[in-house]
Amino acid sequence: MRLIIMPDPHSATRLAANEIASLMTARNSPVLGLATGRTMEGVYRDLCVMHREEGLDFSTTTSFNLDEYAGLSADDRRSYHHYMNSLLFNHVNIRLSAAHLPAGDASDLDAECTAYEKLIETSGGIDLQLLGIGDTGHIGFNEPPSPFDSRTRCVALNRKTRIQNGGMFGGNPDNVPTHALTMGVGTILEARHLLLLALGKSKAAIVAKALEGAVGPEVSASAIRLHPQCTVILDAESASTLSVETRSQALYQESQD
Ligand code: GLP
Repeated sequence: MRLIIMPDPHSATRLAANEIASLMTARNSPVLGLATGRTMEGVYRDLCVMHREEGLDFSTTTSFNLDEYAGLSADDRRSYHHYMNSLLFNHVNIRLSAAHLPAGDASDLDAECTAYEKLIETSGGIDLQLLGIGDTGHIGFNEPPSPFDSRTRCVALNRKTRIQNGGMFGGNPDNVPTHALTMGVGTILEARHLLLLALGKSKAAIVAKALEGAVGPEVSASAIRLHPQCTVILDAESASTLSVETRSQALYQESQD
């Protein structure tokens, strides 16, 4: 695992965007795994700037998002479809037909999950999977316990997650959907590279648990430690409770500004 601790959130998101852009320029037809949440907003802002000002080309990119709320349609403003359209897809030259998210309003959710897995496979697999981390230690919506061989499926959301994600739902956790469609931990581990990004003090405890605690289904983010090509980018605050030993293995970078 390559651990990089940046001085602040801005330099951390910039580095994550640079890593994605490097992969995109190195491949003819890159396949990106994308993530949502507040953490990723800065990454997508930076990628939009790179597209506008430096000509970063998305025309041959295929993307697969990690997850979507069950029951929400693509045009629902609270959906991850809407998040991706408004923060990234509407501002770059990606073909919308190649930008995939699971359909939360599919009539048969299990069939939708199976089809999503198949589509990832027929696209040749994911080159780089971007990951955030939730308060329960989830990646995607893989709530504890999530077996490391789990595949794309419909899951029940943990109460903690519904509280964490209440912002888009009028601040009321009861309005957050009870279920979501998510790539499984096994699906995520098949990506050729993983890039986990965490920002802020509120992530410090769960980041330490994921990187230093037991590796197992109770903290699905701990699975990334089993991946041979994994980069973790933290800002100083999210790294603040890591042990001296872990920190000594990290690469510290100065602000790029
Ligand atoms: C949601 C997403 C996760 C994401 C998490 C973190 O639960 N399903 O993929 O990692 O939010 O969100 P935030 O970045 O807002 O803290």
